[in-house]
Amino acid sequence: MGETIRIAVLRERATGESRVSATPETVKKFIGLGATVSVESNAGATASIADDDYRAAGAEVLTEGAAKGADIVLGVQGPEADLLSGVKPGAWIVAGLDPFGRRDRVDAYAAAGLEALAMEFMPRITRAQSMDILSSQSNLAGYKAVIVAADLYGRAFPMMMTAAGTVSAAKAFIMGVGVAGLQAIATARRLGAQVSATDVRSATKEQIQSLGAKPIFVESVAGIEGEGSGGYATEMSEEYQKAQAELVSAHIAKQDIVITTALIPGRAAPRLISDAQIASMRPGSVIFDLAVAQGGNVEGSVPDQVVEKHGVKIVGYSNTPAHLPADASALFSRNLYNFLSAFWDKEQGRPVLDEEIGNAIRLTQGGKVVHERLLG
Ligand code: NAI
Repeated sequence: MGETIRIAVLRERATGESRVSATPETVKKFIGLGATVSVESNAGATASIADDDYRAAGAEVLTEGAAKGADIVLGVQGPEADLLSGVKPGAWIVAGLDPFGRRDRVDAYAAAGLEALAMEFMPRITRAQSMDILSSQSNLAGYKAVIVAADLYGRAFPMMMTAAGTVSAAKAFIMGVGVAGLQAIATARRLGAQVSATDVRSATKEQIQSLGAKPIFVESVAGIEGEGSGGYATEMSEEYQKAQAELVSAHIAKQDIVITTALIPGRAAPRLISDAQIASMRPGSVIFDLAVAQGGNVEGSVPDQVVEKHGVKIVGYSNTPAHLPADASALFSRNLYNFLSAFWDKEQGRPVLDEEIGNAIRLTQGGKVVHERLLG
């Protein structure tokens, strides 16, 4: 048995971030593995978790120096390097690190001799599904987008037959059917909308149908067959984009609610809806742009604002999961626990990564940036 390892949970500093990277449940489990856990005071406040709940789970709650002596620091987003003074040499930083957007911080971790592990680079392989923060957070984001759109919509989602007359069902169109899109379809269906959906990956057609929604697909130009590289989309040809724009133009004019979720890893989000298409929609319609923080799928969308164009409300949050902080934190925390516990080495009393996952997520080591996507 090695020395007892110390895990630190910091309060998130980023504007609008309301999640926390460990819950009393995961704290208890880490302690069960033999670790000690320190939690910065008020770390869970915005996710409805009190300091006393962490204490009851066995954590030490500290107002200052929560990271001191830590072997592993957990975060939802990456902590700034100046919050990490006093951590053990080579300590792990385990969080969503935004490696491309916050390259400066990655460099600071390297300079401080820390080992930064970017949870958003977790490979999408079966054994890592329970460690996948992108999936757990996208799922909740897809749900929330529909709820927010429903709230901003001046009409009802379900068809209602009342003594005063009939209210017709809302028509909802989901663009991009990954994890968020699938949950958006399911949520809009539960609320009683008539749902249609589209994607560039043809594998999603059956998934859309199995959720009881109507697939709207470009048929004249081939989309992406199979699951592609890791199941991700790539940028489409000009010919495809033109065919997609025509298809969408005809369809969108008849929609009341549009939820866009399309992302291409490492690139700006593809533009799916133009101002002219917005103008063709019925006044009072609502568009939620889940890609707004990555540049937006919708022309004119602005992070964290409701913009009204041609009588259509366009909305998108820069951090949608932070709008359901309690559930988002619970799932995020379990992702981190599932990851660290899967690699727990009983002899050493600490996690030891294997090559496949270690190389996929490790950004810095031995004072250097080591990840291939950040080199060259
Ligand atoms: P994402 O967030 O990267 O993109 C969302 C969706 O937008 C994708 O379905 C993508 O095909 C679509 N899209 C991109 N460009 C588009 C365009 N121009 N028009 C319309 N749609 C467009 O995707 P997410 O949610 O990360 O999922 C990607 C894939 O990974 C899926 O196949 C999913 O099933 C798979 N996956 C696998 C996991 C595992 O095996 N561990 C875990 C989670 C997801």
